[in-house]
Amino acid sequence: MTRVPTPSDKFSFGLWTVGWTGADPFGVATRPSLDPCEYVERLAEIGAWGITFHDNDVVGFGADAATREKLLTRLKDTADRVGITIEMVTTNTFTHPVFKDGALTSNDRGVRRFGLRKVLRAVDTAAAMGAQTFVMWGGREGAEYDSSKDLHAAFDRYREGIDTVAAYIKAQGYDLRIALEPKPNEPRGDIFLPTVGHALGLIAQLDHGDIVGLNPETGHEQMANLNFTHGIAQALWAGKLFHIDLNGQKGLKYDQDLVFGHGDLLSAFFTVDLLENGFPSCPDGPRYTGPRHFDYKPSRTEHLAGVWDSARACMQTYLQLAEKAHAFRADPAVKEAMAYAGIHDLAAPTLGDGETIEAFLAADDDFDPERAGSRDYGFVRLHQLALSHLIG
Ligand code: GCO
Ligand code: MN
Ligand code: MN
Repeated sequence: MTRVPTPSDKFSFGLWTVGWTGADPFGVATRPSLDPCEYVERLAEIGAWGITFHDNDVVGFGADAATREKLLTRLKDTADRVGITIEMVTTNTFTHPVFKDGALTSNDRGVRRFGLRKVLRAVDTAAAMGAQTFVMWGGREGAEYDSSKDLHAAFDRYREGIDTVAAYIKAQGYDLRIALEPKPNEPRGDIFLPTVGHALGLIAQLDHGDIVGLNPETGHEQMANLNFTHGIAQALWAGKLFHIDLNGQKGLKYDQDLVFGHGDLLSAFFTVDLLENGFPSCPDGPRYTGPRHFDYKPSRTEHLAGVWDSARACMQTYLQLAEKAHAFRADPAVKEAMAYAGIHDLAAPTLGDGETIEAFLAADDDFDPERAGSRDYGFVRLHQLALSHLIG
């Protein structure tokens, strides 16, 4: 049986996750909504390390400064008292009708100015709470109709908005980094920055891209039929995996936000393997050391007890997969199968050290394509070993 989670595991939850009352486009809430501080206390009890929240998860839209201060101080005091870290803060730029065409990329300049101010105020909140990550998920940045946006201008405004936020963080001297969260669709028909790759492309265009990275979500990449582990691997390789949203998704459908592991379990295994063990050939290579953050929704069929069962399930599944991933990497049969498959050989640069392009072109490697073409890789055997560790 897997051990119980402890704060050193760095598990964290969004207040909007355990706080989801079950209201969806087809039905009303099926559970009561608790005081935000109560979620913090309960998460501490079940072994979580941190929490995250949107400004409006704690302070109502349009609340005055005094109310805002009072509610945030209360939350921070509660978190401090129960030993919970507020590790990430984000902005709700999607619920209020003013954001129906987006915040940073709305066609309406007045909305963009209002939205950007709201984001900057949430940056101040993040700094005041001691958070180290500021997530920007632009769920309403996008369109239903290709005719509705000048896309050149939309990318200009998205870049301007993110760069303004990053420049503000630097000017204030905040110890904060921005993590962009890609998603292909929902609530917009098509969201800008639909995948990890698109977001990496935009970051490369920023003036202040050094403090901008990614917050990839399992289900979001899978909604685009992409390989989540490959996505976070590329972000990690590029030094841009700043944060993560772990959950479960079953194929190409609406954003299910299931418990971690309740979607594609084999993919979840390799996600945890990468997060816990890094790249196989690169012990000194980039490692993810940030929060293990869950962005899931306790199904609306569950009572409040089910909320805590599902939060525990996310952590327990992660710990079980971590144990199995360690055993997988340590297994001599796996090491042998990896060597046979050439896993470590990929780390050798294709060109020799100092080899010129002329020397390379002239070189006769004594290479026999027929022989190489007849080589066996044994990938299936290796993968079956992973599967056996997973279910064994
Ligand atoms: C979603 C997103 C959000 C974001 C959150 C933090 O699909 O609804 O995943 O839950 O993670 O808004 O930015
Ligand atoms: Mn989601
Ligand atoms: Mn998310």
